[in-house]
Amino acid sequence: MTRMIFQFDFPSSPAWLLLLAIMVATWLYINVRRPPGLPPGPFPYPIIGSTFDLIGDVPPYKTFKRMSETYGNVFSIKLGSYWAVVVNNYELVHEVLLTKPNDCSGRPRTFLFDWYTDDKQDITAAQPTSIWKHHRMLAHSAIRKFASGEYLQNVTEQIRPLLQEIMTEKLKGPFDPHDVVGFAVYNAIATMCFGHRYEVNDPRLNNIMKNSRKVVKGLGNGWTADFIPWFRHVPNPYFYIFKKDAAKFHSLILNEIECHRESFDPDLPAKDLLDILLKSQKEGEVEGKLDDVENRLTNVNIKQIMSDIFLAGVDTQTTTLLWAIACLVDNPNVQERIKREIDEVIGDKPPILSDRGKLPYTEATIMEIMRFRTVAPLALVHRALVDTTIGSYTLPADTIVLINLWALHNDQKYWQSPEKFQPERFLDSSNTVIQRLPSFLPFSTGRRVCVGESLAKANIFLTIVWLIQNFIFSKPEGVEGPVAVHDKPGLVTVPKSYKVLANSRNTVCHI
Ligand code: HEM
Repeated sequence: MTRMIFQFDFPSSPAWLLLLAIMVATWLYINVRRPPGLPPGPFPYPIIGSTFDLIGDVPPYKTFKRMSETYGNVFSIKLGSYWAVVVNNYELVHEVLLTKPNDCSGRPRTFLFDWYTDDKQDITAAQPTSIWKHHRMLAHSAIRKFASGEYLQNVTEQIRPLLQEIMTEKLKGPFDPHDVVGFAVYNAIATMCFGHRYEVNDPRLNNIMKNSRKVVKGLGNGWTADFIPWFRHVPNPYFYIFKKDAAKFHSLILNEIECHRESFDPDLPAKDLLDILLKSQKEGEVEGKLDDVENRLTNVNIKQIMSDIFLAGVDTQTTTLLWAIACLVDNPNVQERIKREIDEVIGDKPPILSDRGKLPYTEATIMEIMRFRTVAPLALVHRALVDTTIGSYTLPADTIVLINLWALHNDQKYWQSPEKFQPERFLDSSNTVIQRLPSFLPFSTGRRVCVGESLAKANIFLTIVWLIQNFIFSKPEGVEGPVAVHDKPGLVTVPKSYKVLANSRNTVCHI
């Protein structure tokens, strides 16, 4: 009897081992099994998926392009615990973002971003609900009102004497152009957001520039904990540093908001984005809309929207301008041709926005810079909101969708020798800019398309034209090889920090 009980309750060790082996095999099978309908892709390891394939010196967007040569233009890959689909050509991106614009317009849950945005209370990380739509519309209307046409022109005109002051200092020897372009971009955004600009040595400006850079860098490093959830419980000093930087950046934004509130008068016309948000909040209070979730704009929303505009708007533009200077230094013939065009068309007159259509080679060069060095190579991460399809494949709801804009910008089907810097590819035979080339989407497209596209294009144009009108940029003596070289990949692809020489073209700059 004793023996029988022993046999039933405590199987002998080979039986235990067999049971354990079956359990492990089942778990492994479930863990690595590709859900039916998903496109093919690399075989994942348990727990980490194919995450290791993306670590190292080769940036993920390049690895994805290489994988697409084996598995096809849409393939699936397991990132830690989650299945993702990577879309690598224009036709499929068009299908995902434009033909079925709602299906993949969600954002995934992420560790750092969700923490940073008080659980998606902003625009960028929020799900596409009616509240998001309302917030996006407010930001968009502010950008249309305060960051285009005459308003932006006035802002840049006010900033130019300050830029001139900084540049005069820089003429003395090799310098890192980060301060110069950062100053121009931050001031344009700050004027649009808060209605005031910063002076050259304003400590608030240096603080906000320094901290936002740290936050963007930190957010770009958060991948591991986003895709392997248990990783977020592992003590990691890096998260503490990020949280400290983020809290500092938020406190700088909150400080600006509080100062603004003190002088805000809801009866006066809005003068900046913050006024538009405060007015909308006030209207909600007056009209008793506080319980109307769709139109609600809380203090946290205001902080997060302002922070979004700074983070999404400043680093992307600063980085584009840094790539621009680097590419023009590497290609002095292009720089000279832009200068000739400026001389012939606008001469000494400071640039205005209506000059855009008159300077096709300059415009084509800016477009080529955005193609050649795609600043947001994987856009922002999307998520399928419903079961949907891509080509002949099926994507279950919640699948992560990565849009490889870099692959679009380097697709040999659309670009001859994509690795070469050739502004002419954006000009037709009559020297007119080809505005809508299919496989060119630096601002992405569809429902989540960049809110600041018009502002970025206008501001970058005005800044580059003014810089080239007044200065010649060149490589310092002894620097070998190209200057436009990638630094480590992150949320935004930045150039390795570099130094250039600037010489004034004229004794008096045109401001
Ligand atoms: C050269 C400059 C810029 C580039 C290359 C760029 C690129 C992008 C890209 C690729 C996205 C992701 C779209 C997607 O998820 O499919 C995006 C989103 C966004 N951008 Fe930009 N951007 C730039 C400048 C700006 C500026 C100046 C602002 C604001 C003033 C801005 C605000 C935003 C916001 C708020 C989003 C999130 C939109 C949403 O999720 O609904 N960006 N941008």
